[in-house]
Amino acid sequence: MTLAVLLVAGASLAVIFDGSRAADDSPVATSTDREAVQAAAKPGSPPQETFARVFEACAHCHQIGDGARATNGPALTGIVGKPVASTDYPYSAAMRTSGLIWNEATLRDFLADPAEIVPGSRMRFDGLPEGDIGPMIEFLKNPVSDTSG
Ligand code: HEC
Repeated sequence: MTLAVLLVAGASLAVIFDGSRAADDSPVATSTDREAVQAAAKPGSPPQETFARVFEACAHCHQIGDGARATNGPALTGIVGKPVASTDYPYSAAMRTSGLIWNEATLRDFLADPAEIVPGSRMRFDGLPEGDIGPMIEFLKNPVSDTSG
């Protein structure tokens, strides 16, 4: 589904660029289209589909959003600002006794290398690439689509 959205976005980028090359005096792309394209291309401001795509790395094990439930892992709704292990989920002792508060700094470290920050955690995940961590934290603060479906 997300892939389809990205493919469609890619196709319309091609159309916009072709159109602006072909006819200078009757532009096919509106300025709104161009702004959307620029926003999509700018690394600092990923479009909403990118936020959702980033969460695919977590979605095997986590739900987020209204109505999210614990699955393989705990629900992550509202996680930024919460103390560790505060949802209805059978956490490992390692996680329960880690004493962490999930804020941007602790999440940044944990998502880069979960096993280093919480040794003995049951979260089997090697860590996110550096460039995905900022968008991920933005997504966790403000999930743009409910993945609890
Ligand atoms: C293979 C399954 C799996 C994947 C993939 C995974 N997690 Fe987890 N996650 C878990 C489990 C299981 C726990 C609970 C670990 C424990 O109790 O030791 C957990 C715990 C967490 C916690 C602590 C939650 C709390 O309530 O204190 C956060 C935050 C978290 N995961 C974020 C993420 C993010 C963000 C991703 C994607 C980048 C991700 N996880 C990917 C399984 C996973």
